[in-house]
Amino acid sequence: MMYGNSWEKYPIEENEIWSYKENFISVQDITKGLPDYMYKADMIYTDAPWTLGNVNMFNKKAGRQKMNDYKEFYSHLFLHIKNVSPKVCYLEIGKENINLFITKMSKIFSYIEQWEIKYYNKFICYLIRGGNKPFTGKDLNNYDDTLTPEIAILNENPKKVADLCMGRGLTAIASHKLNIEFVGTELIKRKLAVFIDKMAKNNILYQKQ
Ligand SMILES: C[S@@+](CC[C@H](N)C(=O)[O-])C[C@H]1O[C@@H](n2cnc3c(N)ncnc32)[C@H](O)[C@@H]1O
Repeated sequence: MMYGNSWEKYPIEENEIWSYKENFISVQDITKGLPDYMYKADMIYTDAPWTLGNVNMFNKKAGRQKMNDYKEFYSHLFLHIKNVSPKVCYLEIGKENINLFITKMSKIFSYIEQWEIKYYNKFICYLIRGGNKPFTGKDLNNYDDTLTPEIAILNENPKKVADLCMGRGLTAIASHKLNIEFVGTELIKRKLAVFIDKMAKNNILYQKQ
């Protein structure tokens, strides 16, 4: 079965907030809104769907309607980033929409930085940083995206990190490892349950509020 049996152990549903200490997560379609707890973040690190095809692949898995235009997704993503108003935001993106993402980030942040990174240790993608202050810190070029959230968090020294499209939780796992508070949302409940299960095995016990 896709995503194993984690959801049977941790049956998280939409409209529920699960928490561990000051860390909060929920099943949420970000095109429909964002939970209040997300607005406390001072850093965002997100690997959102890169194209319309990608958006619809995830919508299908979540039993949601197809979208006709990538803008129906990314307009919400950038509006949330603007409204959360973090001091810094990192977005992963493929080559198809890198220019679009840079243009959108430039409207929100004064300083933009861009690195070429990898996924699955071989394919090229990009990491864009938008910040209120210029970037100083460790260069992220050529790192795999399993490592970039941790390096980015170490570079920025945030109080609370947010990920709007958590997936199985690379950003969340890096935050927990570094003892930084985390908040997040994810469309697919079974994927979020995989994250909750993985955390529980490390004694980080997310529970329904
Ligand atoms: C490229 S994956 C993220 C991978 C992630 N970095 C990880 O650690 O697994 C993109 C994620 O965005 C989620 N997603 C897609 N559409 C969404 C939406 N409308 N609201 C919230 N999450 C969404 C997908 O379900 C998927 O898990």
